[in-house]
Amino acid sequence: MAFLSIRDLDLHGKRVFIRVDFNVPLSKDGGEILDDTRIRETLPTIEFALRAKAKVILAAHLGRPKGQRVESMSLRPVVDRLRMLLDADLGASRNVAFSPDCVGLIAEELVSNLEHGQALLLENLRFHPEEEANDEGFAKKLAALADVYVNDAFGAAHRAHASTEGITKFVAQSAAGLLMEEELNYLGKALEQPDKPFVAIIGGAKVSDKIDVIDNLLNKVDAIIVGGGMAYTFLNAKGQKTGKSLLEADKIDVAAAALKKADDKGVRFLLPVDHVLADRFAADAHTEILDGTGDFPDDKMALDIGPKSIEVFVNEIKDASTIVWNGPMGVFEMPAFAKGTLAVAEAVAGNVDATTIVGGGDSVSAVHMAGVEDRITHISTGGGASLEFLEGKTLPGVAALTQK
Ligand code: 3PG
Repeated sequence: MAFLSIRDLDLHGKRVFIRVDFNVPLSKDGGEILDDTRIRETLPTIEFALRAKAKVILAAHLGRPKGQRVESMSLRPVVDRLRMLLDADLGASRNVAFSPDCVGLIAEELVSNLEHGQALLLENLRFHPEEEANDEGFAKKLAALADVYVNDAFGAAHRAHASTEGITKFVAQSAAGLLMEEELNYLGKALEQPDKPFVAIIGGAKVSDKIDVIDNLLNKVDAIIVGGGMAYTFLNAKGQKTGKSLLEADKIDVAAAALKKADDKGVRFLLPVDHVLADRFAADAHTEILDGTGDFPDDKMALDIGPKSIEVFVNEIKDASTIVWNGPMGVFEMPAFAKGTLAVAEAVAGNVDATTIVGGGDSVSAVHMAGVEDRITHISTGGGASLEFLEGKTLPGVAALTQK
């Protein structure tokens, strides 16, 4: 890897500022953590630093408080969960301290009280507008708390903010954490040196959200499977009328261009060949299967892929050596329209010989719904970040790390 790793740093007795992505889903009142995956995925980095007897300063954002203190977006509930997880792992109680502000006297004092092998979590960085503005003065204040900087927040690495980018200008060394390294290794290898055949599965509602990913992946993959709401814009581009299904009329040209690019490059572009049609967008809608390339009835919408599509997609997945999956095949939150997405989750997990990478909130939820998370090679903690990475963009939080 081209960047410094936390393993390259001398951590003993040093104040180590670790930017983590603790942007976890909370209950409405902010009191309860609904999914602690991002906290658990960062534990190896935090424990590595604690074991090396560093003074660990953890910094994160939560939600989008728009530069103001919003109590329901406080990181306080996270510190309790973090203590619990660290105690369970390290077998000893570590009193993780909490600073009610990420800068200023209180943060400085709590940092100066830290002993070797102790951690402190700073309050939500985004309570200060200067964080997202990547303000130099604010980045300097954060940097002044630390001797070295580690970025483990892959999920926020597509943001050029004070804690992900600005701060690196004011510390001697900026290294990748273990989670950051793992994310970059898996996603990077898939894009640069994939074992072939390489199959990408792209789903979700909107062509506009994923077209740049599709465009970049068409340079790399052997086959691309497209399902979900966006598939109907592609089918329209091929001349099929799709009733009331999702359609981005202004993206039909873009979809047609992607189909042509696939053709020119000899990439198999797989779209659904049959559909679960519904008379309305509801869990108890009346459904029927529509087979083939004929036009849909005007008053029906497709909310999932049909059984033949599942068969075709599963066959393609089963022979792949590298699989990247981002986005569901249908409205999988409703049981009547979950079959396609769950079948894809099972097929991806079932291909145990392949390197399988899943990114994006919805496909990750589907993997959990199918109960196959243990059989996926890498589940990315990044939503927007993994998409931008797959688009081939340079992530500012990664570019700012110190070169080896
Ligand atoms: C995420 O949840 O994708 C990251 O934490 C980034 O959050 P943001 O989209 O609010 O910048």
